[in-house]
Amino acid sequence: MNPKKGILLVTFGTSQAQAMVAIENIVRIVKTSFPDFEVRLAFTSAMIRRKLRKEGVHYDSPAFAMAKMDEEGFTHVAVQSLHVIPGFEFDDLKNTISAFSMIPKTKIQFSLGSPLLFQHDDFLRLSSLLEKMIPIERKSNQAFLFMGHGTHHCANAFYPALQYYMWQISPFYFLATVEGFPSLEQIIPTLKEKKMENVCLIPLMTVAGDHAINDMAGEEEDSWKSVLEADGFQTQIVMKGMAEIDDIVLIWVDHLKTALEQLLINN
Ligand code: CO
Repeated sequence: MNPKKGILLVTFGTSQAQAMVAIENIVRIVKTSFPDFEVRLAFTSAMIRRKLRKEGVHYDSPAFAMAKMDEEGFTHVAVQSLHVIPGFEFDDLKNTISAFSMIPKTKIQFSLGSPLLFQHDDFLRLSSLLEKMIPIERKSNQAFLFMGHGTHHCANAFYPALQYYMWQISPFYFLATVEGFPSLEQIIPTLKEKKMENVCLIPLMTVAGDHAINDMAGEEEDSWKSVLEADGFQTQIVMKGMAEIDDIVLIWVDHLKTALEQLLINN
């Protein structure tokens, strides 16, 4: 039997058309890096899939995409997580893959590529690449505050860990999260202590989607921009997802290489 090899990229997804550029950039780089593999994309968020379906745009869930590939005779598929940390979304993906091995008559073999941040090297690499996310012209006493998603999963600890790595690169790099620790309120005293006057807000997310557009840069009074400005800081916005930076995408690509190697070893 001839092997039929595929790659399934899995992202949370986005319903913001302008944020899709980041996802399209990953797909483009992966296709160029692995020309012998068919590359597909799935969205983990059911809410986003439903919303897009109403607009006539269809994306599969990971389970559905995997079942389709099985049905189409794929034998080897590397599933690559496009998440930032190994949180709930990544756990779900692991569980979906292991559930597949329970299905009778399934010949397809899956491996799983880790999210952006997984091992020591990923933290080092990402921290040194964050420079590519920030504006070229710097202001004095300017903080670069990266907005992570945050979670109540134990992997939230990846965020304060990343902050430690970031401080090895620049004392002007700060990190806070929308839904986890540290929050914006918890980082503000540090910004004041370090005499920061201007805060440049940058998404530490795969795409600059809903959180970046509304929670970070929105005009509502509880957005990060509004809260910081009300507290006397000047702000600047970078509306860019990490997946728009090719060198950052290559971290995911390297994880995908590892996942592909695993498939071939167990052949
Ligand atoms: Co969210």
